[in-house]
Amino acid sequence: MCGIFGCVLKEGNAAPLIHASLKRLEYRGYDSVGIATISEGKIYIKKDQGKIDDVHKILNLDDLPGNIGIGHTRWATHGAPLKVNAHPHTDCTGEIVVVHNGIIENFIELKNELQNLGHNFVSKTDTEVMAHLIEETLKQNPKLTFTQAVLDSLKRVEGSYAFAIISTREPDKIVCARNESPLVLGINHQGVFCASDIPAFLAITNKAVMVNNGELAILTAQGYEIRKISDNTPITREPITIEWTPEMAVKQGYPHFMIKEIHEQPETLRNTLRMQEHYLDLLTTFLDRANEVFLVACGTSYHACLAASYMFSKLAFLPTFPVYASEFVEQCGKSVSIDSTILAVSQSGETADTIAAVTCAQQRAATILSLTNVIGSTLTRISRVYIGTQAGPEIGVAATKTFTSQLSVLAQLALKLAKKRGKVSQDEIDSLEENLQKLPDLAETIVNTQEEKIKQIAKKYADSKVFFFLGRGISTATAFEGRLKLMEIAYIPSIAFPAGESKHGPISLVENGFPVVFVCPKDECHKTLIGNIMEMKARGAHIIAVIEEGDQEIKGLADDYIEVPKGIPSVLSPIPFAVPLQLLAYYTALEKGFNPDMPRNLAKSVTVK
Ligand code: F6R
Repeated sequence: MCGIFGCVLKEGNAAPLIHASLKRLEYRGYDSVGIATISEGKIYIKKDQGKIDDVHKILNLDDLPGNIGIGHTRWATHGAPLKVNAHPHTDCTGEIVVVHNGIIENFIELKNELQNLGHNFVSKTDTEVMAHLIEETLKQNPKLTFTQAVLDSLKRVEGSYAFAIISTREPDKIVCARNESPLVLGINHQGVFCASDIPAFLAITNKAVMVNNGELAILTAQGYEIRKISDNTPITREPITIEWTPEMAVKQGYPHFMIKEIHEQPETLRNTLRMQEHYLDLLTTFLDRANEVFLVACGTSYHACLAASYMFSKLAFLPTFPVYASEFVEQCGKSVSIDSTILAVSQSGETADTIAAVTCAQQRAATILSLTNVIGSTLTRISRVYIGTQAGPEIGVAATKTFTSQLSVLAQLALKLAKKRGKVSQDEIDSLEENLQKLPDLAETIVNTQEEKIKQIAKKYADSKVFFFLGRGISTATAFEGRLKLMEIAYIPSIAFPAGESKHGPISLVENGFPVVFVCPKDECHKTLIGNIMEMKARGAHIIAVIEEGDQEIKGLADDYIEVPKGIPSVLSPIPFAVPLQLLAYYTALEKGFNPDMPRNLAKSVTVK
């Protein structure tokens, strides 16, 4: 997730306005920033790594000439957060300048092709291919207009994008285009704007024009034109009036970041499925060679590791040891050696306990691999290989979209390893790959169909004094995560354990009306889980079951149920099953009058041990 902004003004300098708008988009990414303008047929660019204010102090981002320009605030996906990878990016001639939010899936093929044609790439980004592709399109067809060259180039690009592109060839316009990444236009008496999100320009106009997938827009000081990318047909669309306050706009109309981020999961999961094969392959090679693998993390990230231990075992026959990072040094420190592999998982990449565990393992010459949402974080700097989880900045303190992104990447790794080791039949691999691709839609269906029902369930149980969260097999990890969410934002003491453990102690707590949340995918544990539901029911517990659609057996036993679409393979089930539990925690917190974005005593990034 990055933020893009562009403006064509009737008069005055564009750079200060671009700078101010990028500041309002900083919640979309903040590891590098850059602005490009055109003045008297010349391109001017300033960019660097770092937060906008820090870069501005050194470069003065307001000081670029020209009434037209584009800008970008970055959340690194391809290439570390370095100046060379900061947007805008240019072609070989420096005449075509591009900013981009999204992921170009086929950028390696395009880059190879363009390099073979003599194009000189300077960054590691996927974005740079677009500048060279337009340059090449114009070289091949010198009669094309700049806009037509952008249109033709877009037809070769696969993946998600919101582009804003300027060129000295037609210095009076910005061409922008959208596929899956957000893009919106703003308009007022000063000129026309394009941006990733409405908050970028809400301080100067509330007149907005939405750009849809597969559309391109041409901005000039006189106005805007929208066309279909596929056939260049014009589209008429009038501006609408946005009634949001600036604060609402940052949350895109949602009351809290947490619910916005829960709703973003279809998009973030789609992004994780665009993961570059190359990095997955590299990590898989290290895992394949490993003698012993420790999965190290804290909190929600630890729950992703716990789920991953089932995935690696079931699919790749690789035993792994999930360990709480805060316990790692004491529990495993001495036994770690050059033969050990650590796969550390951390949203922030800065959690002190995780960094301490990894540092200990590094000192003992172990191989350090990691998964993090923040490229450039401490964890990426001390890892041999890392993968970015592509979820974009997460602002709500409770992790939601980053959890499902971590799970999706871990599932892809387990699947790759299974393939490499030949442990699972090709049919099963094909079916799992197909099901992985369905996860974004499943998350969307769950949010669309279950949210209202979950609100009612939250209302019904909000005054409960304690909750159980139970599952079997991989759903134990889902249950742990559901418990953590409810506990941390709704402040209801909650207990989670594998359902089979009930009879070894915890069931003594159960009395009439005691709420027990069961995570019930229709997998190999289903039958035994029904036994566990029965034993809770027999003691008067109220059963809240998260089930697969049409699971009549458990429906008949549950007091309340939440349905997720059916047919999800067990190893992937924590991804869709986590979504209703996030919603349950969110709406319970609201029922109790708490702000779910800022749970007491907690911080987004825990940098103390
Ligand atoms: C819970 C939550 C925390 C974090 C934990 C680790 O919702 O967000 O439990 O998961 O503090 O943080 P990262 O993943 O940044 O290492």
